[in-house]
Amino acid sequence: MTTTEPVSKNMSSANHVKKYSSSIRFWHWANAIVISGSLITVLINSTITKGRPTATLIKNELQKAGAQVTADQARAASHALSDSVWDIHVYFGYVLAALLLFRLVMEYFQLADQKFIRSAKIVYIQYKTTKAKREQVRNQLVVKFIYATFYLLLVIMVITGLFLAFEDALVAYKSIRHSVKEVHSFCMYLILAFIVIHLAGLFLAERKEESAGIISDMINGGKN
Ligand code: HEM
Repeated sequence: MTTTEPVSKNMSSANHVKKYSSSIRFWHWANAIVISGSLITVLINSTITKGRPTATLIKNELQKAGAQVTADQARAASHALSDSVWDIHVYFGYVLAALLLFRLVMEYFQLADQKFIRSAKIVYIQYKTTKAKREQVRNQLVVKFIYATFYLLLVIMVITGLFLAFEDALVAYKSIRHSVKEVHSFCMYLILAFIVIHLAGLFLAERKEESAGIISDMINGGKN
């Protein structure tokens, strides 16, 4: 009797292309951890190790313990604390830069069905040419646009961050340092806005029956 079963167990899985490759899932969760880490360092430096209040706290506590500390010494100690938090921020930054590079290289080597640029183009063409399921296609287009904006923000964050990290080697550009820092910190608010929109979008999508399970798709790969 002939059998139609696949010769190898892997054959059936080879034919089934997952919605998200293992590389993109790794990138997604690593990126989420690194961005959260970066944001936590910024939060610490704008609260716990914030200049003047921390200097006052150090001075008062040391004086209570019987030490004589000047305001300048306390300020220097507070500065050193925040510098060590910035060092951690920069380590997160290097990992984020490496992850961005990994994402760019990955886009080139991904299977066609898993490429972001390709799927964004398909949704755009669908939006331009078909009248069917107009609202659904428009929503997909908005989602792609938001992701594209996020990728652009990551690029800006990495370029400005690396500029700040290597400012000693880039003394020739000292005049733009302040503006670069402004852009870097302003983009943080846009990244925060993206995180809020992303989480709200996931929450709303999970409530719809047809797209339920999108969070687990980013864990197990999902079906294309
Ligand atoms: C999502 C990612 C990131 C967020 C939210 C973020 C946010 C910030 C913020 C708010 C500041 C303070 C700017 C100011 O004082 O006006 C800062 C400073 C800085 N960031 Fe980032 N950043 C990120 C990624 C990066 C990356 C990729 C690098 C590259 C290595 C980097 C390197 C730096 C450096 C060197 C500073 C200056 C620290 C100092 O004042 O000593 N950051 N960042």
